[in-house]
Amino acid sequence: MAEVVNYKDLGLVNSRELFRQAVSGGYAIPAYNFNNLEQLQAIITACAETSSPVILQVSKGARSYANETMLRFMAMGAVRMAREMGSEIPIVLHLDHGDSFETCKSCIESGFSSVMIDGSHLPYEENVALTRKVVEYAHQYDVTVEGELGVLAGIEDDVVAEHSTYTQPEEVEDFVSKTGVDSLAISIGTSHGAFKFKVKEGEEPPPLRFDILAECEKRIPGFPIVLHGASSVVQEYVELINKYGGKMEGAVGVSEDQLRRAAASAVCKINIDSDGRLAVTAKIREYLANDPGEFDPRKYLGAARKELIKLIKHKNEAVLGSAGRAK
Ligand code: G3H
Ligand code: 13P
Ligand code: ZN
Repeated sequence: MAEVVNYKDLGLVNSRELFRQAVSGGYAIPAYNFNNLEQLQAIITACAETSSPVILQVSKGARSYANETMLRFMAMGAVRMAREMGSEIPIVLHLDHGDSFETCKSCIESGFSSVMIDGSHLPYEENVALTRKVVEYAHQYDVTVEGELGVLAGIEDDVVAEHSTYTQPEEVEDFVSKTGVDSLAISIGTSHGAFKFKVKEGEEPPPLRFDILAECEKRIPGFPIVLHGASSVVQEYVELINKYGGKMEGAVGVSEDQLRRAAASAVCKINIDSDGRLAVTAKIREYLANDPGEFDPRKYLGAARKELIKLIKHKNEAVLGSAGRAK
């Protein structure tokens, strides 16, 4: 049997205490996805400089792109880097959209401090059974588990959902008590990716279903709720991408006002991936268009990393409210 790596030996923490503080403090912990060095450096730099706790998220796609072992050592490097910056921010290493018991088990054994088991596409009782199985295993190692009820439109790793299905508030209490999960992702109108809503020119995207969120909160008061698909799809980046040869007409996301409102509620984890992708793509396109002879990746990736740091600091300070909360 492969050696089991305990996340505590890597300097990581699970999400339990962070969520408790976030729910009572009315802010949300940022969960940023990473796949490569520059993204991770930017997340750590921005969170250390804003004194924000952080969840480093690894999707199944990231594991196959970057290699699970490589990502674990990168997370260890990230902890060390933060400490060397003089920062004691809590860092969680989390599996995003775990698709099976085996994937979750493998991450737990390789040093992840938190996992998501996404059984949201399964019939309710199967979702309960799978989530329960992961919780039973994870809790032996004090690893926290996120479950999901309701389906987001867009791509959930391998699962492509054409239409979203909002979370049914009547199910949340039963799900949480039967599974023993530590947090619950719900579907209230967000979706993954950069094309979240179809809106006509000049129109605002529809508001999130805060009524469903309130119904869920009522049934599981104080329980940590997670919001996926929470990128704002920053228009400045979409415009740069389109200006420098890209094609992303109609890309639109969740407004910062809506996210602030969610963060002030029982939503204590907000997942952001697409905004980082847009920042990186916009800056690389801009850099290479302005300096077509440049071929040193450190130059254009460096420009992308700098922008990512700016974006993440802004999110922590002005949207999620996690800045200054690292204890
Ligand atoms: O929720 C999905 C995340 O944005 C990860 O996406 O599977 O392309 O890495 P990915
Ligand atoms: P976005 O695509 O809106 O960034 O959502 C990311 C996410 O939910 C990762 O799990
Ligand atoms: Zn997600």
